[in-house]
Amino acid sequence: MAVEKEKKSCGQVMAEWRQFIWDPRTHQFMGRTGTSWALILLFYLVFYGFLTALFILTMWVLLQTVDPHMPKYQDRLATPGVMIRPKTEALDVTFNVSNTETWDHYVKMLDEFLEPYNDSVQAATNAACRPGRYNEQPDDGVPNYPKRACQFNRTQLGPCAGRTYGYGDGRPCVLVKMNRVINFFPGDNKTVSVVCAAKKEEDVAQLGDLALYPANGTIDLMYFPYYGKKVHVNYTQPVVAVQFLNLTANVDHNVECHIRAANIRADDERDKFAGRVAFKIRVNRN
Ligand SMILES: *[C@@H]1O[C@H](CO)[C@@H](O)[C@H](O)[C@H]1NC(C)=O
Ligand SMILES: *[C@@H]1O[C@H](CO)[C@@H](O)[C@H](O)[C@H]1NC(C)=O
Ligand SMILES: *[C@@H]1O[C@H](CO)[C@@H](O)[C@H](O)[C@H]1NC(C)=O
Ligand SMILES: *[C@@H]1O[C@H](CO)[C@@H](O)[C@H](O)[C@H]1NC(C)=O
Ligand SMILES: *[C@@H]1O[C@H](CO)[C@@H](O)[C@H](O)[C@H]1NC(C)=O
Ligand SMILES: *[C@@H]1O[C@H](CO)[C@@H](O)[C@H](O)[C@H]1NC(C)=O
Ligand SMILES: *[C@@H]1O[C@H](CO)[C@@H](O)[C@H](O)[C@H]1NC(C)=O
Repeated sequence: MAVEKEKKSCGQVMAEWRQFIWDPRTHQFMGRTGTSWALILLFYLVFYGFLTALFILTMWVLLQTVDPHMPKYQDRLATPGVMIRPKTEALDVTFNVSNTETWDHYVKMLDEFLEPYNDSVQAATNAACRPGRYNEQPDDGVPNYPKRACQFNRTQLGPCAGRTYGYGDGRPCVLVKMNRVINFFPGDNKTVSVVCAAKKEEDVAQLGDLALYPANGTIDLMYFPYYGKKVHVNYTQPVVAVQFLNLTANVDHNVECHIRAANIRADDERDKFAGRVAFKIRVNRN
């Protein structure tokens, strides 16, 4: 028995399609009447309108809770991070004294970093504060009143303030800075300083003597607290320069600098940059 297959001619298909697109008998466009289409359109209009309104409302409510002057979440218990300049990817400062090209990029980085510390710039923008105590500046009823910053003069860094920063004569300087934490009072009213040493006890002799600027590696309390970049526009971050006076040449030195302060821990096993920083320094010479 032969099964008769339903076969349509090409013309038949075309006619069916034409009828599907526009059926003059039922007045349907693509299978729906004008009213049906209008209802669908209306539904989606209302639906998306509602979603948009919901999104805007949520956003608005969220923004109401955000203070532009203070990060919403900051981990106050976390110790501030510490970083060095010149900063390279691997925190590795290696150079050859007699080959200027190996260290002039370090000099350039330090030049750039210290530009805002120029005494003239500091005198023009910042105040001479009383050393040894926090520079607290309460709002006194005026919310977010602009805060004055204290002077940190480039010349306080002694031989680490300019020229070749010691790289030209094999006594390189590295700057150590503590990251800003808003409304943080490091040291609990007691001295805050930077301490640097060879990471391993047995390498201390090879590392040689260090000099710190300002004296004793002190970070004066007057540079705290930091009130945030919106109100504390001219804030100049204090730095400590460590100069390696007698590095044994042609060997790697692993150095660690940490912050010594009553309320800053520098021994977090999980965070290598909390309260301390480790880097490698090496001077090559013949
Ligand atoms: C800052 O001082 C250095 C040298 O101490 C100088 O070369 C540079 O032009 C000064 N920059 C500004 C902005 O004053
Ligand atoms: C910084 O330098 C300026 C200009 O030389 C000077 O007037 C000011 O007293 C210095 N400030 C500090 C804190 O050393
Ligand atoms: C910041 O420095 C500018 C000059 O560059 C000065 O006009 C302004 O008063 C300073 N702001 C504060 C809060 O000290
Ligand atoms: C620092 O000492 C002063 C005076 O004794 C005190 O008023 C202030 O609360 C202390 N600040 C901190 C952060 O301990
Ligand atoms: C540095 O420390 C020594 C000894 O601890 C002290 O005698 C000296 O006054 C300190 N210098 C400064 C500028 O704090
Ligand atoms: C520099 O270090 C070497 C040993 O590494 C030592 O013999 C020499 O006395 C040191 N020089 C100074 C000025 O400390
Ligand atoms: C240092 O640079 C000089 C000049 O380019 C070169 O002759 C010398 O071999 C280099 N020394 C080391 C230890 O790389």
